[in-house]
Amino acid sequence: MARILVVYHSQSGNTQRMAEAVAKGAAETERAVVELKRAAAVTADDLVNCHGLVICSPEYFGFMAGALKDLFDRTYEALKDHPRIQKKPFAIVISAGNDGQGALASIERIARGYRLKKVQHPIIAKGPVTPEVLTQCEELGRVMAEGCAAEVF
Ligand SMILES: Cc1cc2nc3c(=O)[nH]c(=O)nc-3n(C[C@H](O)[C@H](O)[C@H](O)COP(=O)(O)O)c2cc1C
Repeated sequence: MARILVVYHSQSGNTQRMAEAVAKGAAETERAVVELKRAAAVTADDLVNCHGLVICSPEYFGFMAGALKDLFDRTYEALKDHPRIQKKPFAIVISAGNDGQGALASIERIARGYRLKKVQHPIIAKGPVTPEVLTQCEELGRVMAEGCAAEVF
């Protein structure tokens, strides 16, 4: 079974709804198990043990949410050379008031440090989270789970 970890932070619920949609889509794949966790509760072991990772963040002050930065701060030293982190498939989901590019760039830069492997285009919701955005999130989750289960990434 492929383990998919969906990590998120959210204050007013927008990113949470997107993360839940990603998890819902991923859970449709019978060969995957999905864990949906707030960034503050995620450990280095969680990152090591998953086969695919979806990082969901709001844009705050032109950057990823502090709770996600905290996750990276807490785990980088232990994981930067870990063989089960390098090339781990990941994708990014962002909720922003404006264009989300600051949050995206900050996550991508740190992900390069972990040597994660980006396997899908990011989803960036600008403004309200629409049903169309949630459908895209479900699809991203489904593709992530199918791809990890089939080991195609
Ligand atoms: C403290 C704070 C800072 C924010 N900074 C930005 C920003 O720099 N750029 C932007 O596009 N939106 C910004 N926003 C808007 C949020 O990205 C947007 O409301 C998002 O949907 C919040 O997601 P959440 O409901 O998951 O917390 C900010 C919101 C807050 C609360």
